[in-house]
Amino acid sequence: MPQSKIAGIGMYVPEHIVTNNDLKKYMETSDEWIEERTGIKERRYAHRTNETTTTMAVEAATIAIERAGITPQDIDFIIFATLSPDYYFPGCGVLVQRAMKMKEIGALDIRNQCSGFVYALSVADQFIKTGMYKNILVVGSEKHSFGLDFTTRGRNVSVIFGDGAGAVVLQPTTQEGQGILNTHLHSDGESAEILAMYNPGTHANHWTTNKVADFDEAEIGQMFMSKDMIDHDQNFPFMDGPAVFKKAIVKFPEVIMEALQASGFTHADLNLLIPHQANLRIAQFVQQKLQLRNDQVYNNIQQYGNTTAASIPIALCEAWQMGKIKEGDLVCLAAFGSGFTWASALIRW
Ligand code: UT7
Repeated sequence: MPQSKIAGIGMYVPEHIVTNNDLKKYMETSDEWIEERTGIKERRYAHRTNETTTTMAVEAATIAIERAGITPQDIDFIIFATLSPDYYFPGCGVLVQRAMKMKEIGALDIRNQCSGFVYALSVADQFIKTGMYKNILVVGSEKHSFGLDFTTRGRNVSVIFGDGAGAVVLQPTTQEGQGILNTHLHSDGESAEILAMYNPGTHANHWTTNKVADFDEAEIGQMFMSKDMIDHDQNFPFMDGPAVFKKAIVKFPEVIMEALQASGFTHADLNLLIPHQANLRIAQFVQQKLQLRNDQVYNNIQQYGNTTAASIPIALCEAWQMGKIKEGDLVCLAAFGSGFTWASALIRW
């Protein structure tokens, strides 16, 4: 059975840099607070009208496809991870297919937030192993800047997130021990609401009141996204940051160890860990817990903020471009986020 390998990788971040001090124009915050709690110094924001989650994905995908030595017409499946799609539906996968003039191939969108890219990679890996596809485009892309609460009320969330995209092309390899060695996917929906964007959605408070409310005629049709919801700023993401932090620092090390042990490795064998760029303090905690040296972990949240599904492919691409990943290196990707969902992928480059 073939294994899958990353044959090409690309990234795209918008030109517009937003520093911590820039955010002070909109909310009560400080460069010191943001850097001390998150490590973030700046992030990129997409152009309001000319750049979307899909256009950024196309930029990253174009580079990944070129580096794989193929053309968009050779891609036989698209998997697109995002929580900030251009449209509520259809997904961004079909928009990439259209924009890149690909054949009438399958396109799948994945809604797994911070762990979306690792989930997407795992799904692609299965399709390669079964021989169903030979050139899969896996993308993570986010345009957060369009949907954040930039008032002081939303500052715990809005200062963290940035925009950008990363993409890889997955192909089969028969070279023994090369490529994706294992992937592990997990979820625990118990705390689904503590890092979530409730609207637009069909919940109508079903989960919070634990019963379907009895709506009158006037309310029906307003439930999906009502004026009242917008007036009360319920169209922004909600996060109980400290609770997410506590869970993340447990699940990150667990899922990394799961990946290493599944293939008979220890932390000492790891050449590079690319953790989802949620918060530099989380990554540093994980590094310390696993006793990894600085050169065994790559972080770039300082420059780009948290780009959710795009953070791992952006960091992976940047590390590779900087020569930090060489052929034969053991690389672990690990993510944790909303859901909660968490995941890892172990790769022999
Ligand atoms: O990738 C998605 C997964 N998400 C994560 O992994 C995020 C995990 N959590 C975190 O990264 C951290 O919890 C945050 C960075 C979000 C927040 O840091 P914290 O140290 O947990 O702060 P906190 O929420 O406990 O808030 C502490 C104080 C509060 O003020 P009071 O109540 O002590 O007066 C907040 O109102 O900091 C205040 N605060 C801010 N102050 C300045 C919250 N956000 C800001 C801000 N600027 N941007």
